[in-house]
Amino acid sequence: MIPLVKVGLPSKEILMPRLEEILYSGMIGEGEAVYEFERQFQKKFEVNNSIAMSSGTGALHSALVLAGVKRGDEVITTSMTAEPTNIAILQVGATPVFADVDVNSGNLDPTSIQDKISHKTRAIVVVHYAGIPVRLNEITDIAKQFNISLIEDCAHALGSKYQGKGVGNFGDFGIFSFQAIKHMTTVDGGVLSFKDERRLRDAKKFRWFGLEKGVPRTEIDITSVGYKYNMHNIAATIGLAQLNEIDNRIAKHVDNGRFFDKNIGAISGLSVPTFDQVAEPSYWLYTIFSEDSENIEKSLSEIGVQASKLHRPNHFHSIFKEYAGDLPQLDEYYRKMIHIPCGWWVDLAIREKIVEVLKKG
Ligand SMILES: Cc1ncc(COP(=O)(O)O)c(C=O)c1O
Repeated sequence: MIPLVKVGLPSKEILMPRLEEILYSGMIGEGEAVYEFERQFQKKFEVNNSIAMSSGTGALHSALVLAGVKRGDEVITTSMTAEPTNIAILQVGATPVFADVDVNSGNLDPTSIQDKISHKTRAIVVVHYAGIPVRLNEITDIAKQFNISLIEDCAHALGSKYQGKGVGNFGDFGIFSFQAIKHMTTVDGGVLSFKDERRLRDAKKFRWFGLEKGVPRTEIDITSVGYKYNMHNIAATIGLAQLNEIDNRIAKHVDNGRFFDKNIGAISGLSVPTFDQVAEPSYWLYTIFSEDSENIEKSLSEIGVQASKLHRPNHFHSIFKEYAGDLPQLDEYYRKMIHIPCGWWVDLAIREKIVEVLKKG
């Protein structure tokens, strides 16, 4: 079966000697490998000030706290995402306010965001769903106009660009995930980036119990709560090896995505996502829209290709039900959408076969 998502790691020959060296180096916690990973990640993806984290969820939680989101505040967000996006909002005691999505992309609709703003709104969390950048021009304008923090959840969108600039650079905060099946994995891990470099000290303290690295333990004073959200040297060593190969992997996602845009977009009865002209998705997943998504799932499975809806709208979960409002565009998007594989493991023959089957209907 050609899976929808797949773990991608450097070859054994490349990875194992480096892992062996770091595992027995006596320095397995947060150390030089982590700091080198941060420098290289920041350079490669040209993101703002960045620190390496234990997960994307930890990075999101940190972004919300650093943005000043507190109990009782509202955070405008999307239900069409992986659950951690919204669980992190509950973790800070805030109320998720679900805005509706653009039916043609699954991404938050700027008009709906604006409609949901109240005097309690403290932040907007956008998700570049499946790797497609949200309409950042409009959304950054709204955030500025109402003086609300913008957090970009880039977990699906490593390598995606907008106006030639990497996603994660537009909001006050950006987060990335290196969980098992993302474009790039460190087994688990993430990055938190932030526009204002003066936040670096607070971000690092939040990542480490509220303690400040480098201050002698006998002199240190914790003044606010932090968590154990640091990346360790083992994950960072995997990450450093991944960074040497990531351009290649992302290029394959993009090449397949553009092939599907052109070839599936031309099939009658099907449609494909649309996005701003200045957006360059990194196509973590590919999304098709059809009145009969179940039939697509079935016919692709007959040729050994997995297709499915990868996420459940979060407001379907009991824990989010009380926040569920009317989301007619999301309902339509979710009814019609189906994901197909589009990553580096999809070769030219498979993608041709997928298009052939879809043409047959
Ligand atoms: C959209 C989105 N946000 C956040 C996360 C959380 O990332 P992590 O699994 O690294 O904590 C994920 C991944 O599961 C995700 O898909």
